[in-house]
Amino acid sequence: MNDSIMLKNICEQPNVVADCLAIELPLSDRVLSAQRIMLLACGSSRHAGLVAQHWFETIAKIPIQVLDAAAWTDRSPLVESNTLIIALSQSGKTKDLLEALTQIKAVTPEIQVLAIVNGSDSPLVHLADSAIVTPAGPEGAVAATKSFSAQLVILARIAVNLAEYKSLISPSIVPVSISKLRTDLKVLPQAIAKSLNNLQRHIGKGVGLDWMVSESIVLLGRGIQQPIALEGALKLKETAYVHAEGFGAGDFCHGPMAILKPGFPIIALMPDQKMRSDLDRFQALGCTVIGIGKRGHECLPGLDQVFELESIADWLMSFLIVLPLQLLAYDWARSRELNVDQPRYLTKFIG
Ligand code: G6P
Repeated sequence: MNDSIMLKNICEQPNVVADCLAIELPLSDRVLSAQRIMLLACGSSRHAGLVAQHWFETIAKIPIQVLDAAAWTDRSPLVESNTLIIALSQSGKTKDLLEALTQIKAVTPEIQVLAIVNGSDSPLVHLADSAIVTPAGPEGAVAATKSFSAQLVILARIAVNLAEYKSLISPSIVPVSISKLRTDLKVLPQAIAKSLNNLQRHIGKGVGLDWMVSESIVLLGRGIQQPIALEGALKLKETAYVHAEGFGAGDFCHGPMAILKPGFPIIALMPDQKMRSDLDRFQALGCTVIGIGKRGHECLPGLDQVFELESIADWLMSFLIVLPLQLLAYDWARSRELNVDQPRYLTKFIG
């Protein structure tokens, strides 16, 4: 059943990711030799940036800050001229981002701005020094799905290219195999397609699951999966209008867990042993715990519901973890007879 644009967008992800792996990345020496990165974005784009933050830090060993463009004008962040600004936006038209960049360029005209957008003719492309246009195609539904994956691929490739550039200058700084990282990336389209096929046997049919009677839900992720918890929560809020919150799994135990009560649903992203012991406590309180992880992972059995994904390199698992969250948001919205493609109050971008 492919009766909504959002579901169609979700199903296009294997091809979109393959296309994003195939395009040339116009990265100048000026971009590759940046000493630090500031990534500015809003909404889903900011979540993609927060995932990529882990890649830039661990693979390319480059300091990076990911900032909410909507809050830029309320602060006075210091921007050094050797900083690369990455402006990430599906539409390239988000007013908060354009205003932040205009302000930065006014104060530091020599700063390099690299835009990553999904449409070549956008104000952001004109404002930036260089641009990468993601070949995701038009995303008709308001909730970002395929454009999110497209942004992730481009950011992963930039991180690998930065690592390669750095390793040529000083090999000891980047102790990772660049060819291994590129091989990891190549399997993504197939892994996404297989995971979607398996998931769609159970979800993505527009039918609500038992725990979707709740008005609230919590998503827990650790490390690189924490931004995916935020992104999953955003999808659920945007499409199904449920109060969904994403947390770092550790932080959730420092206060927020007081909201739990019997029947409360919790989605755990790639639980490890440490998270699993917390999940056991939550199950003992009567909560419904839904686990998402690699097929056969030892921390999944015994949870109330489990969604298993293909096994790929850990650094890329976010591409797969987000898939069931997109499908669950679709199901929850459809089961409430909501318009998943055009949620109330929302527009594709805020111009
Ligand atoms: C709006 C949309 C979000 C989107 C955000 C950023 O708030 O409702 O879904 O993620 O804008 O949009 P952009 O086009 O800049 O990525």
